[in-house]
Amino acid sequence: MDLQGKRIWLTGASMGIGEALARQLDRAGAQLILSARSEDKLQQLRDSLSHSELHQIVPLDLSVPHNLPRLCDETLGTAGLDVLINNGGISQRGLARSTALSVQRQVMEVNYFGTIALTQAALPALLKNCGMVVNIASVAGKVGGQSMSGYSASKHALIGYMDCLRAEEARHGLKVLNVCPGFVQTSISVNALTEDGQKFGKVARSIASGITPYQCAEAIVRAMQREKYEVVIGKGLSGWAPTIKRWFPTLFTRLAAGKNIR
Ligand SMILES: NC(=O)c1ccc[n+]([C@@H]2O[C@H](COP(=O)([O-])OP(=O)(O)OC[C@H]3O[C@@H](n4cnc5c(N)ncnc54)[C@H](OP(=O)(O)O)[C@@H]3O)[C@@H](O)[C@H]2O)c1
Repeated sequence: MDLQGKRIWLTGASMGIGEALARQLDRAGAQLILSARSEDKLQQLRDSLSHSELHQIVPLDLSVPHNLPRLCDETLGTAGLDVLINNGGISQRGLARSTALSVQRQVMEVNYFGTIALTQAALPALLKNCGMVVNIASVAGKVGGQSMSGYSASKHALIGYMDCLRAEEARHGLKVLNVCPGFVQTSISVNALTEDGQKFGKVARSIASGITPYQCAEAIVRAMQREKYEVVIGKGLSGWAPTIKRWFPTLFTRLAAGKNIR
């Protein structure tokens, strides 16, 4: 897909991978709809882009999925949409045995229900333009590890849903790309929910040793241009984990039980 002039809706644009994506898509000549909860950060981002006049800001909260269809109608009207990038999300840190059910639900609400609600609402506009849905899932959506049962479950669910959507809508021209990054140096662990719903508040060692948001965004843009259906992006074990699990499941199981990502 040539991104020049394409209308692209990007969630989670206020920081991290989303912000890096916004900068690269702006350079590629796309017209962006920038979404997240923090309107001030979105304004600052838009003002700093080279084609700021082309871009629109639409604040939204993925944890309130029932608001999204109306917001989508108001934003898109009867116009088409070329790409929806489902990037907004939260992480979680805590053992499965002691994480409150309310925390598990909150992660699912944002990463899964909010994301599929927006996708479903945007689908008619995407089909109009034979568009693409890009989902920033995770390596944790392909393999399970320690201290992230809710997060991993939400990303597995997202990949499953999006694989089905691709199967159903490919004949109508829809493309679906699932992106599975390993560790990326963002605030994801700072904002992650702990067992009782407090913020984790720290940059985890694993995250600090990951690739930069810019490197991640560059690989995502490349996968969009090549119309891939799934990519794993990462270095070291975080990038190889899905391959190790597929071909050496016993080794993977031992590694996962031994290595705590905290
Ligand atoms: N960093 C990693 O190692 C890594 C690895 C694999 C996958 N990912 C995925 O990459 C995506 C981006 O994460 P990141 O690493 O860039 O983390 P980040 O820096 O914490 O950014 C998360 C983004 O999601 C938005 N967001 C959070 N809750 C939201 C809500 N309820 N409604 C709307 N927007 C919300 C945040 O904006 P507001 O707070 O302004 O709403 C922010 O823009 C996530 O889906 C994450 O799961 C990250």
